[in-house]
Amino acid sequence: MDNDSKHRLVILVGSVREGRFGPVVSSWVAGQATAYGAFDVEVVDLVGIDLPLALPDASPKHAGDDYPRPAGMAPLTSALAATDAFIVVTPEYNHSCPASLKAAIDWHYTQWAAKPVAFVSYGGPAGGRHAVLHLENVFSELHAVTVRDGLAFPDYPAVWRDGVPLDPAVHGYAKLLLEQLAWWAGALRTARAAAPYPS
Ligand SMILES: Cc1cc2nc3c(=O)[nH]c(=O)nc-3n(C[C@H](O)[C@H](O)[C@H](O)COP(=O)(O)O)c2cc1C
Repeated sequence: MDNDSKHRLVILVGSVREGRFGPVVSSWVAGQATAYGAFDVEVVDLVGIDLPLALPDASPKHAGDDYPRPAGMAPLTSALAATDAFIVVTPEYNHSCPASLKAAIDWHYTQWAAKPVAFVSYGGPAGGRHAVLHLENVFSELHAVTVRDGLAFPDYPAVWRDGVPLDPAVHGYAKLLLEQLAWWAGALRTARAAAPYPS
């Protein structure tokens, strides 16, 4: 596949905590996505992005591109706007996603619409699935399409070594996630080019 026909993919690193595990997971996911071949991959890390909790006095839904975002958010906004697909890498904080990830989501609206979102999660016994269940609801409100097959790593310190998951079966699960994501990315890219998404 040449670069023009590849789908643009943003891998969003959801946690910004000191000593976080998120970058380990997202670099491995980026390697899998690059090797798969259908995507032009960009890892977008929320660390260092200006993500205030106080939102402006208008909804991004109605303000569109004029939404008054801080200058330090511009690289994030541009990456979200330009991409065809997302993989959200999230841990579980108190049975939901980290506040950093929710803030990045809430500061945007049209950037998510009519695009597919897949999830890779990690955490304690539930492997971050509580966070993913919340995020599936959130992204449906934003007119995004969530991909059925995700990857979840329960008790992640025991199942990763040297930046790689220990279970070889994970590669098959990752391939299925990427196949479904590429299918949706292609279908929705064609649909967005054919007609503006109604909102
Ligand atoms: C504020 C906070 C709340 C947490 N709540 C949960 C939880 O509800 N379920 C869970 O499995 N792990 C929970 N954990 C453990 C995290 O899954 C674990 O610390 C993980 O490494 C966090 O991802 P990060 O290192 O990328 O920040 C919590 C961690 C923090 C910091």
